[in-house]
Amino acid sequence: MAKQFGHSNIAVIGMEWGDEGKGKIIDFLAERADVVARFNGGNNAGHTIEAEGKKIVLHLIPSGVMRKNKLNIVGNGLVIDPKVLLDEIKFLEKNRIKISPENLVISENAHIILPHHIEEDKKIGGKIGTTARGIGPAYTDKAARIGLKAYELIDDAIFKKRFGSEEFYNEYRQYAENLKPYVNDASAIINYAIHNSKKVIFEGAQGTLLDIDHGTYPFVTSSSCIAGGVCTGLGISPKKVQSVLGVCKAYKTRVGLGPFPTEISGSTGEKIQKTGKEFGATTGRQRRVGWFDALIGKYAVMVNGVDSVALTKLDVFTTIDKLKICVAYKYKGNAIKNFTTNMRILQNCQPIYEEFDGWWDDIAKVRTYDALPNNAKKYLKRIEELLKVPISIISVGPKREQTIVARNEFLI
Ligand code: GDP
Ligand code: IMO
Ligand code: MG
Repeated sequence: MAKQFGHSNIAVIGMEWGDEGKGKIIDFLAERADVVARFNGGNNAGHTIEAEGKKIVLHLIPSGVMRKNKLNIVGNGLVIDPKVLLDEIKFLEKNRIKISPENLVISENAHIILPHHIEEDKKIGGKIGTTARGIGPAYTDKAARIGLKAYELIDDAIFKKRFGSEEFYNEYRQYAENLKPYVNDASAIINYAIHNSKKVIFEGAQGTLLDIDHGTYPFVTSSSCIAGGVCTGLGISPKKVQSVLGVCKAYKTRVGLGPFPTEISGSTGEKIQKTGKEFGATTGRQRRVGWFDALIGKYAVMVNGVDSVALTKLDVFTTIDKLKICVAYKYKGNAIKNFTTNMRILQNCQPIYEEFDGWWDDIAKVRTYDALPNNAKKYLKRIEELLKVPISIISVGPKREQTIVARNEFLI
C-alpha cells in the first residue's frame, strides 16, 4: 500500500502553455500512487523524467512508468498514433523499463491517429505552429463522428471494412496485433481502483492556455487540458476528483505562435532560455520565454480549481539580478487585473510589473523550504499572495530528488 499523505487522488495539470514540468512532478508523486492515468492529448506532449540515472521523454505513456508496480492508464480522451506508442514501449524496454498489460492499459475508446491526419496537420498546422503530429485532424474526426476508436483498430473485421483498400492496411494490422493485449475498458478499471481506495494521479498534458475551450484560441491544441478534462477523458465523476495540483514555471514559456504579454526580449530572456534549456521536448523548437504572469496564474487557479501549486525551475533564476512578476495589463490606458482569452484584447496588452531582487546562492541542492535564500522566499510568497493558493512543491532542478515538498497536506 502506498504511503498516506493528504488526498487519495490528485489531478496534475499545466497552468500555462505546456512544458511546465508535469512529467517531473508526476514521477516524483508517483511513489505515493497506485495508478497514473493520462486524460488528454497525444504525442504532441513530451513529458521529461530524470531519475535513476536516466533521462526519459514520454509522449503517450503516463509518467508513472519509471516507478515499479504502478498501473499506467491511457484514457479515452487521448488520440493515439499506434506506431509512436509501440516505439515508445520499445524505447522504454531498451531502457530496462518493462511494459506489459500488468502496468499499461489503453482505453478501448481512445481515438486513433491515421496517416491522413498527419498529412493534413503538416499542410494546415503551420498557421498556428502545431507539432504536426496529426492531433487536430484526429480530434476533428472524433467530433465529426467519423473517427476510429482503439477497439475498432484491433477488430479485424471492422478495420478491414473501413480501410481494407488503403495502402497502410497491412502496416496498421500489425500495429493492431501488437497493441491488442493492452486495450481494455479503462473507465471501468479506474473507477474500480478509486472505489477500492487506490491512490490515483490524473495526468494532464499541455496546459490551461492550450485548452480547446479555455485557452488562447485559436493558438491552442484540440483537447481539454484543464481539470474538467479528467472526467471526460477518463470516464469518472467530477465528485471523485479530490484535489488539483497546478504545475507552473517560475517564469513562463510558450512554443508555437500566439500572444504572450510578458515575453522577454534581449539578454535576460536569452539567459533564461539557455539556463532553462528551453527547447521543446517533442519538436526541439526553441521555447519563447517570459516573466511570471499573475493574471495567467489566477486564471488557471479559477478554471481548474487549483488547490495548490507545484512551482518548477526556480533554480533557473539563480544569478538573475532583478526578477519581475506581471500583476496587471495595461489596455487602452486602463489597467486590467484579470486574464482574457479575447485575442483582440490580449494582443494589445502591455504588462505592468512588480520587481524583486534575485539571489546568487546555488539552490540546486536545497531540499527544504527554510534553506532557500530569503529573496527566493519573498518571490514565492508574493506568488502565493497573488494566486491565493499555497505552493506545495518547489522544484529546483530536473532530477527527481531536486524537489522540495513544502506542504504535504495538499498532495496525495
Ligand atoms: P512537461 O511537458 O510539463 O512534462 O514538461 P517538459 O518535460 O516538456 O519540460 C520541462 C523541462 O524542464 C524538462 O526538460 C525537465 O527535465 C525540466 N525541468 C523540470 N523541472 C525542472 C526544474 O525545477 N529545474 C530545471 N532546471 N529543469 C526542470
Ligand atoms: P506538454 O504535455 C507545449 C502546442 C504546439 C502548438 C499548439 C497546437 O509537453 O506540455 P498541436 O500539435 O497540439 O495541434 O499544436 O499547442 N503544444 C504544446 N506546447 N507543450 C505541449 O505538451 C504541447 N502540445 C501542444 O506547440 O503551439
Ligand atoms: Mg512537454
